[in-house]
Amino acid sequence: MLGIDVGIDLGSSNIIVYVKGRGIVLSEPSAVAVRKLPRAGGYEIIAVGREAKAMSGKVPKGIEAIWPLQEGVIGNFDMTEELIRYCLRRVSGNNSLLSHPRVVISVPAEATEVERKAFIDATLGAGAGEAYIVEEPISAALGVGLPIDKANGCMVIDIGGGTSEVSVISLGGIVVTSSVRSAGRAMDAAIAAMVRQRYSLLIGENTAEEVKNTIGSALPLTPELEMSVKGLDPSNGLPKSILVSSVEVRESLESITIGIEDMVKVALEKMPPELAKDVVDSGIVLSGGVALLPGLAERLSNTVNTPVIVAEKPLYSVALGVGKILDNFSVMRRVLTYVERGSR
Ligand SMILES: Nc1ncnc2c1ncn2[C@@H]1O[C@H](COP(=O)(O)OP(=O)(O)OP(=O)(O)O)[C@@H](O)[C@H]1O
Ligand SMILES: [Mg+2]
Repeated sequence: MLGIDVGIDLGSSNIIVYVKGRGIVLSEPSAVAVRKLPRAGGYEIIAVGREAKAMSGKVPKGIEAIWPLQEGVIGNFDMTEELIRYCLRRVSGNNSLLSHPRVVISVPAEATEVERKAFIDATLGAGAGEAYIVEEPISAALGVGLPIDKANGCMVIDIGGGTSEVSVISLGGIVVTSSVRSAGRAMDAAIAAMVRQRYSLLIGENTAEEVKNTIGSALPLTPELEMSVKGLDPSNGLPKSILVSSVEVRESLESITIGIEDMVKVALEKMPPELAKDVVDSGIVLSGGVALLPGLAERLSNTVNTPVIVAEKPLYSVALGVGKILDNFSVMRRVLTYVERGSR
């Protein structure tokens, strides 16, 4: 059999690729570093993924580190296409027989028709033979093993880099969905702002992210933690190192955490009572990278008085769900909301 089937979770922070029969084969930051060329619109790709992210905040003049996905949708079309092309090249190697695969790509539930079409166009433009899209909450639910076809509603909360999304799924479709455009990235920015204001220290987004992922939390920790953070003192332009505590990091994240709590509360309030009862009975699944923030699941659980369970592999839920669709394509095809055929 020729041809491969590829599933892509193209997030604001990470790109995760699943290949049928092989599982997750690629997990990289969704960043591209480019050098602008003198001719109009010309550019040269310098790095993609981990290497491009490492360049963020330290690229010389003329080079730019770009995050093509913003708040879950395509912000820079050409660079999104480059990212997908890079993934397809990586999975097909140099085998030209494998170079026009069937691709299923996930999109936020709240993406507009225009935004959905852009995902399809970028996927086909990057070399896919066929491109399909699936809504992220559906694939996240499949990825964590929830029974999406049952009449019992289930709720999935996905907190990624660019968006926080809550959805209720029943009978294979999305019944309620709501999202806020603030998630992991906004948390990093809040930490950088706090460090600047309190310690008059400038830090980059990668450093702020490391602080969040090392000592960040949504509820008090025992014991509370400390971390040394290095940056630049703007008063003299010299490097400086300070100690930040998990208490002040948590405080800086508070308004974003409250925003996520409010989003979940509103979604529950909007729900028909029978569905709300199902959700309370079966519990809520928390997915996306920020699900790993200590205390977040417990805090959400307290707020809505319902058990909140962290997905087993929160960074991979969506890609694993897309994988389940590929593994059983003829049956699962009906959950793909938009289909366009190329030449396979
Ligand atoms: N241990 C951790 N604690 C807190 N946050 C974490 C942890 N590990 C990863 N993250 C954060 O999770 C976010 C990335 O999550 P994910 O890969 O699910 O996002 P994405 O799918 O790329 O974005 P989106 O779905 O919003 O488009 C980043 O902000 C990252 O810093
Ligand atoms: Mg995501």
